[in-house]
Order: sequence, then structure tokens, then C-alpha cells
Amino acid sequence: MTPRKRIAIYPGTFDPVTNGHLDILGRASEIFDKVIVAVVKKPSKRKAMFPLNERLGFLRESIKGRVFGCPVEIEGFDGLLVNYARRKKAQTLVRGLRAISDFEYEFQMALMNRHQAPRLETVFLMPDERFVYLSSSIVKTVGALRGNLSAFLPPPVLKSFKRRFF
Ligand code: COA
Repeated sequence: MTPRKRIAIYPGTFDPVTNGHLDILGRASEIFDKVIVAVVKKPSKRKAMFPLNERLGFLRESIKGRVFGCPVEIEGFDGLLVNYARRKKAQTLVRGLRAISDFEYEFQMALMNRHQAPRLETVFLMPDERFVYLSSSIVKTVGALRGNLSAFLPPPVLKSFKRRFF
């Protein structure tokens, strides 16, 4: 009998993708047989700066030429995450956990998702410490003020920031 493929979903807004997200994706790719980066169409927190097609484009461009431990797919999704995971036959959700401040929100989401889909597990991965204080909001703030973000953003996002803000 062939073993079941371990499929993980790495969901988020990715507005835009940062090197912290790519760090988590790299780590997840070493654990699973396939990782699907699922980009939510409408973020729950606030309006996205970049429309879905741009956020997807940044991700696709950013993973080009990178070596991952398993196949990586990038896709947009709408509606409940657990329903999307079910459609994709995924058993696991991957979330990055940076500081303690992430914990309460992540705990709440993980338990609510478990309530909806008891067999779908959420696993938390820690990014490299260089990215522990990184967020999409802070890069947008610093980008708008023309700060140097080369250590934190993949080249396609940096290029777009230069066009937009410089
Ligand atoms: N490196 C850098 N930044 C990181 C990071 C990392 N490793 N991991 C997370 N972040 C940042 C993000 O950039 C983002 O920053 P911001 O708040 O400044 O924009 C923040 O942490 C969290 O964003 P993200 O990881 O994109 O999560 P989210 O809270 O925006 O999205 C979904 C969460 C998409 C998973 C959730 O809203 C969802 O499931 N939506 C679908 C509807 C649904 O099912 N809702 C019920 C859920 S219980």
C-alpha cells in the first residue's frame, strides 16, 4: 500500500510575502510531501494593499529558482479555510509563530478551526530569528517612507516597492 501523501496548507494574507514567510515555507517543505500556499482573497483584518493577483504573483515570482524539500503550489482561496483544506485533501495547516504576541490570535484560530474540522491539525513553525519581528504591516510602513528593506523582502516585492514608493 502506498503511504498517504502529507499535504499541508500554509494560509495567510501575504500582503506582501516577506522573507519571513519564505523561511516558514522552506521549513514546512522539509516536513510535508506537498505544501499549498493559500492566499486569502479578502483579509479579515484590514483591506489589502495589494490585490489578490499581485499577492499571488509576488509569491510565484519569489519562489522561482528556490529549492524546496517538496512541491509547492500557490493558490488563492475564498470562504472558510477548513472547507478549502478539505477540498485540497490536506491534513495540516501550517502557521508561523513569531513572538508571544502572535499566540493568542493563533490559539483562537487553531481551536476554532479544530472545532470546524477536528481531524485537521494546525502546526506552528518558528522563523529564523532575523524575521521574528517582521510583519507585512511594518514593511509597508517602512516602504512608504523609502526605508531599506532589502534584508526582509524577496526581489520581486522589492522591485514593486521601488516602483510604487520611489
Ligand atoms: N514572517 C513575517 N511575517 C509574518 C510571518 C513570518 N513568518 N508569519 C506571519 N506574519 C505576519 C503577516 O505578514 C501579517 O502581518 P500584518 O498583520 O502586519 O499584515 C501577520 O503576521 C499575520 O498575517 P497572516 O499570517 O497573513 O495571517 P492573517 O491573520 O492575515 O490570515 C488566515 C489568517 C488567512 C489564515 C485567516 O484569516 C483565515 O483562515 N481566513 C479564511 C476565513 C476563515 O476560515 N476564517 C476563520 C478562521 S478561524
